[in-house]
Amino acid sequence: MADEEEKRTITVKYGIIGVGMMGREHLINLSHLRHHGVSVVSIADPHPPSLTSAIDLAHSFNWPLQVFSGHKEMLDSEVCDVVIVSSPNMTHHRILMDIIAHPKPHHVLVEKPLCTTVAHCKEVVEAARKRPDIMVQVGLEYRYMPPVAKLIKIVKGGEVGPIRMVAIREHRFPFLVKVNDWNRFNANTGGTLVEKCCHFFDLMRLFAGASPIRVMASGAMDVNHKDEVYDGKVPDIIDNAYVIVEFDNGSRGMLDLCMFAEGSKNEQEISVVGDEGKGEAFVPEGIVRFGTRVSGRDGVQTIQTVDERINFLEHLNFLHAIKNKGTETPEVDLMDGLISVAIGVAAQVSIEQGRFVSMDEVL
Ligand SMILES: NC(=O)c1ccc[n+]([C@@H]2O[C@H](COP(=O)([O-])OP(=O)(O)OC[C@H]3O[C@@H](n4cnc5c(N)ncnc54)[C@H](O)[C@@H]3O)[C@@H](O)[C@H]2O)c1
Repeated sequence: MADEEEKRTITVKYGIIGVGMMGREHLINLSHLRHHGVSVVSIADPHPPSLTSAIDLAHSFNWPLQVFSGHKEMLDSEVCDVVIVSSPNMTHHRILMDIIAHPKPHHVLVEKPLCTTVAHCKEVVEAARKRPDIMVQVGLEYRYMPPVAKLIKIVKGGEVGPIRMVAIREHRFPFLVKVNDWNRFNANTGGTLVEKCCHFFDLMRLFAGASPIRVMASGAMDVNHKDEVYDGKVPDIIDNAYVIVEFDNGSRGMLDLCMFAEGSKNEQEISVVGDEGKGEAFVPEGIVRFGTRVSGRDGVQTIQTVDERINFLEHLNFLHAIKNKGTETPEVDLMDGLISVAIGVAAQVSIEQGRFVSMDEVL
């Protein structure tokens, strides 16, 4: 008991690399963990307006910050125990390699996608393998959304039997405007099916409890961004797609992505069907439905999920792993990050080449 109390009050100092929309969200989410010994002590970002907004926010939590224009200066200051990487996708590889190579160990929570290419993800995995003193968690946070977490629990509890089909529909608004418009080009994001959909491929893998073997996709940029021009170039990011993923236990997943679907009640609708039953999750309605073949339609239960910790569950879990290093590992690890990117890459290649792409080809 004394041990637990001691662990709760150990101060863990965080730094945030990239304090745009997501970095500032991490700052707010970490403020909920002040009573668990968390404090944000440093930020790094080359964009002065992002720094100013983050400094204002940190002041409201009474967190004085050391401010840097780049991640190297932050690492060399050695003021942090943990760093959050929430800079644009194409910067993750360089920043992660520098963190892992730094003499002072820094634990890392890196935003999804791990990197924009499989080769870069593999380099990071390989480098991290040689640093057992560092823990890395990947920000595949959809696992923590209350209805999704509840559905995972139902499926993992065996209540629908062995999983055969996982269908995920994301129908939402277009990509938001980002600092220096980095998210308008595949070269920066890895492609829509990597950037956005690594979340869903991660969930498919988790529900299927298996490894992907091949991917077939069809998609295009049909509606959004067509009239935008940046330095003379029109964006090349697809805004709708269907993706089929086959797994090595015979189960299959399907993603239905549409990014011009503001007229939707839900942003994500997930259906997982096994031999014995079916579970569904609806976000943001927060509803989970669950029924069995034996009980039929009349037996379908509707559960309203709520978890007040939704905004900081990811951080709470990583903090727990850090404080229990040696006995705990990060819940979402580098392999999860790598495979979720690899499925997205296979889907992008499938669209370009109009054929099934095996995971062996991209991995
Ligand atoms: N988990 C999620 O659901 C989710 C949602 C949105 C974004 N993200 C991810 O978060 C990351 C950031 O996205 P965002 O929406 O905050 O973008 P953003 O454009 O709002 O912010 C990015 C910030 O990073 C800064 N930056 C650029 N290069 C940098 C560098 N080398 N070092 C440090 N900072 C640098 C920019 O100046 C900017 O302030 C991306 O990887 C994105 O995919 C995740």
